[in-house]
Amino acid sequence: MQIRTLFCFLALAFAGCTGQPAPADKPSPAPDREWWKEIIVYQIYPRSFKDTDGDGVGDLKGIIEKLDYVKSLGVDAVWLNPIYSSPNDDNGYDVSDYRNIMQDFGTMDDFDEMLKGMHQRGIKLIMDVVVNHSSDEHEWFRQSRSSRDNPYRDYYHWWPAEKGKPPYRYSLFDPKGDAWKYDSMTNAYYLHYFSQKQPDLNWENPKVRQEVYDIMKFWADKGVDGFRLDAFQFVAKDTIFPSFPEGFEKNFVEYYAMQGNLHEYLREMNREVFSHYDVMSVAEGAGRNFEDAHRLVDEDRHELNMAYAFEGVDIAKPGGYTLAHFKEVFTRWDSAFANNGWLSIFLANHDQARLVSRFGNDSPAFRIPSAKLLNTFILSMRGTPYCYYGDELGMTNIGFEKIEQYRDISAINGYKKVKNEGGDVEQYLKDLRFGSRDNGRTPMQWDSSEQAGFTSGPPWLPVNANYRQVNVEAENKDPASVLNHFRKMVQLRKQHPALVYGKYQLLQPEHPTVYAYTRSLGDEELLVLLNFSDKKSGLALADVATIGEVLINNYGTVEMDKDAVRLEPYQALVFSLK
Ligand code: NOJ
Repeated sequence: MQIRTLFCFLALAFAGCTGQPAPADKPSPAPDREWWKEIIVYQIYPRSFKDTDGDGVGDLKGIIEKLDYVKSLGVDAVWLNPIYSSPNDDNGYDVSDYRNIMQDFGTMDDFDEMLKGMHQRGIKLIMDVVVNHSSDEHEWFRQSRSSRDNPYRDYYHWWPAEKGKPPYRYSLFDPKGDAWKYDSMTNAYYLHYFSQKQPDLNWENPKVRQEVYDIMKFWADKGVDGFRLDAFQFVAKDTIFPSFPEGFEKNFVEYYAMQGNLHEYLREMNREVFSHYDVMSVAEGAGRNFEDAHRLVDEDRHELNMAYAFEGVDIAKPGGYTLAHFKEVFTRWDSAFANNGWLSIFLANHDQARLVSRFGNDSPAFRIPSAKLLNTFILSMRGTPYCYYGDELGMTNIGFEKIEQYRDISAINGYKKVKNEGGDVEQYLKDLRFGSRDNGRTPMQWDSSEQAGFTSGPPWLPVNANYRQVNVEAENKDPASVLNHFRKMVQLRKQHPALVYGKYQLLQPEHPTVYAYTRSLGDEELLVLLNFSDKKSGLALADVATIGEVLINNYGTVEMDKDAVRLEPYQALVFSLK
């Protein structure tokens, strides 16, 4: 039997290998080129990246020390999680001084040196702006809680106790799930969508908004290149605090996101801050639907450059996920923004467990190819890619067994809540092992020395036991490592504007194991084939033009003829098409 016939036969043996063309979608207009569409962002969780003073916590000097490594990845920008002064109830997402550096991380001089070092290497810096809430230790809150007639009282949301209990609001991090905390000092409740130490700022107060714009200008004047707006979709509130239907918390985003004057605030921020600097802006959260997301990012609205939508990153569940669902979500979001607006593309960050453990296969046999496949996906889709530190190595979940091992407030208070409510704590612990944020926050694995070269002291969170195999030093030396594959993909994206701006077309949507799509711009067309399974998978190629060069392959060989490809488990291929 000829090879070609063999592949047609194999292809037909797989459901979905129908060779049917995917439904045509509208041609993309000529792209408006923008630097923030073309960058690849590398996210650094500073606490876990590199410690230089032996206290077990990463610091800015550590980032400075590793800037050549960041440069070697080929990425263009770093998004840094919050580095401002903070009592660390939520690892820096509780800011007590927006114009100062957290002591654990260093000093403002360190910051200036770090920024200079980034710019010297052509790397931009995106700062996290955490202004849905501050820390309860921020001076504004100290003042605000001190008396009802303090000038800072209206910087936060207060409900006087003589009006009775305020209408229930759900808190994401509260052990009782209650977002109102009673404060005896003024006999009133304050609102906190996150922890009790993260009181929500009152965005309806113009003074608060002005404070925020001034803070942003302070950092923009220092030369930072962008802002990531934390939990921004929740900032505006109906300060009447109407009652919400019982059980609303199961779907709280519908009630919390994009309320009131949020878009006006963003236009104001744009006028006051963004329009005066060459900075990019990205919001965490893209609202409740496409319409909300477009209203945030469409250029004619003068609000933001882009947003993170959660539907994609939320697909992975403890029980697994289906490729059909994955394809459907990413295709739907891509087509909704094909002609207008821009989004980010990501599968992991500091609020998620590890990329390869959630979306891939972290068993010894498949960790390497599946981590490469996932990085190929992120770096070949439309949208600005955000890659989380350690995922370029294929770092995996640590999978703690006991609640005492966790450091993350959401895990610890979530556990208390389940316990208080008489829920299934064993199941909760099992779910945490798969999905907890601490899984994604373990120290960066630099080498095979003690503590993976992260620190000379006891690390704030244990190093993953696999650091002797999975580390930068080892992967640097190995041309077939996840790290070197990541670098190749970064270069490929840079060399092919089709991967940034090109039209995306899904092929064979029904194929159960292979995600196949093309990216095309002008005369150039690239084909991406990703086998999301631990079995070989065949794929007919009836609906693409002639295959050209193999540009990316996470295996040594490609088994194919002109009509079909047979992919190895988790094989990831990018071809040029003639
Ligand atoms: C979203 C951040 O990404 C997360 O880490 C944090 O806990 C909450 N916002 C509260 O700031």
